[in-house]
Amino acid sequence: LDLHLEPGGRGVRAGLEAAVREAVRSGRLSAGVRLPSSRALAADLGIARNTVAEAYGQLVAEGWLLATQGSGTRVGNRAGLAQQPATGAPPLQPRYDLRPGSPDVAAFPRAGWLAAARRSLSLAPATALGYGDPRGRPELREALAGYLARTRGVRASPDRIVVCAGFSHGFSLLCQVLSARGATTLAVEGYSQPQYRKIAVTQRLTTTAVPVDAGGADIGRIGAADAVLLTPAHQFPLGMALAPARRSKLLDWAADHDATVIEDDYDGEFRYDRQPIGALQPRSPERIVYAGTTSKSLAPGLRLAWLVLPAHFVDDIIAAKALSDGVTSTLEKLTLAEFINSGQYDRQIRRQRQAYRRRRDQLLTALHGGVSLIRITGIAAGLHALLQLPATVTEEEVIARASRSDLALDGLNTYRHTEEPHHSALVIGYATPPGHAYPTAIEKLTEALWDR
Ligand SMILES: Cc1ncc(COP(=O)(O)O)c(C=O)c1O
Repeated sequence: LDLHLEPGGRGVRAGLEAAVREAVRSGRLSAGVRLPSSRALAADLGIARNTVAEAYGQLVAEGWLLATQGSGTRVGNRAGLAQQPATGAPPLQPRYDLRPGSPDVAAFPRAGWLAAARRSLSLAPATALGYGDPRGRPELREALAGYLARTRGVRASPDRIVVCAGFSHGFSLLCQVLSARGATTLAVEGYSQPQYRKIAVTQRLTTTAVPVDAGGADIGRIGAADAVLLTPAHQFPLGMALAPARRSKLLDWAADHDATVIEDDYDGEFRYDRQPIGALQPRSPERIVYAGTTSKSLAPGLRLAWLVLPAHFVDDIIAAKALSDGVTSTLEKLTLAEFINSGQYDRQIRRQRQAYRRRRDQLLTALHGGVSLIRITGIAAGLHALLQLPATVTEEEVIARASRSDLALDGLNTYRHTEEPHHSALVIGYATPPGHAYPTAIEKLTEALWDR
């Protein structure tokens, strides 16, 4: 109940009232927040308790505060009013969301995670809570080395793993190190996440676009570059796997250009119709940086991801990491190590794989029930599908129609980084809504597609 107020003005009481009103009006104190007792606030501010009690009384009378029996004084809904956007402004969060990028965060395994947190913290030595190795706790790096070798075929030793705050953080460190070593050009897939291109540019790298077709990135057209960022197991956002012949060709290209390959394996665990495609990294561990994340398997809010590095990168990445965030949240790392070692991570992935597969099938059924002019691709894996629209409608039109019924959609144009001809399409993130909202989200999608 610590409260920062700067009472000023004429009388002490009037000054206190004005300070609370201002804090509520500006949104610094939001509706429902509990205020200190009059005794505690009086002691903090060095004023009489009666003065605080009278000020609270006045603010309650005016509706700024609420006095509730048994739970003290709280900020009233005026705070909510003060924070509401101007009339006519769209709501900040759409009610239904089929944009890609997030798993179903409502399915986060809270009980299992809490149990792992409790157990790992009880077992951790006190020294674990110090600054420690910028690569992250050894318990997690050990657990990841075993897990990645077992499930993705990655050749990983714990000393080459660096745990970072999301893939975007690890990627930023890589760009920084590449740039410091004299790299100037990073090739990215012609359709890819725009934020990674921005990160590269921030680190003074020029990005070039590799065209993507049905076989994934067209390796023969990468050209000259110091590094390439790819999503080989499941191209983001188009959804295909990199064709086997291109996987080999990529290794030749990297050797010929003495280049680094960054393998972004963001949703490699989620494959539905056959065995997951293994990682590329074991075919050239000294050229390929393998990157994985918990942002799809658990929740983006965890901010936990990992890089498996070629030996020559390790020291430079450690140095860059030490300057960026030092050590990424130790408690979360200990918990994840326990979560993996106890088998719960595998169980959660298996459970969610089934859940997302059902959702994908529901999506296909709903769309096939309509006009078959829409082609759906990229559905063998991951948490998103590509809906290719007929020439009679643009993605912007469908997105606008959907937003009128409070459904957020994402068009393929958002991810475009190429001058090649563009075909209108939607990138549907079918994992995003919580389970109870999914059927309605799908219904709204079909309405927006067929303008019903
Ligand atoms: C292509 C791709 N890679 C990686 C990630 C994960 O990023 P992060 O670990 O920073 O959440 C995402 C998340 O949306 C993504 O779309």
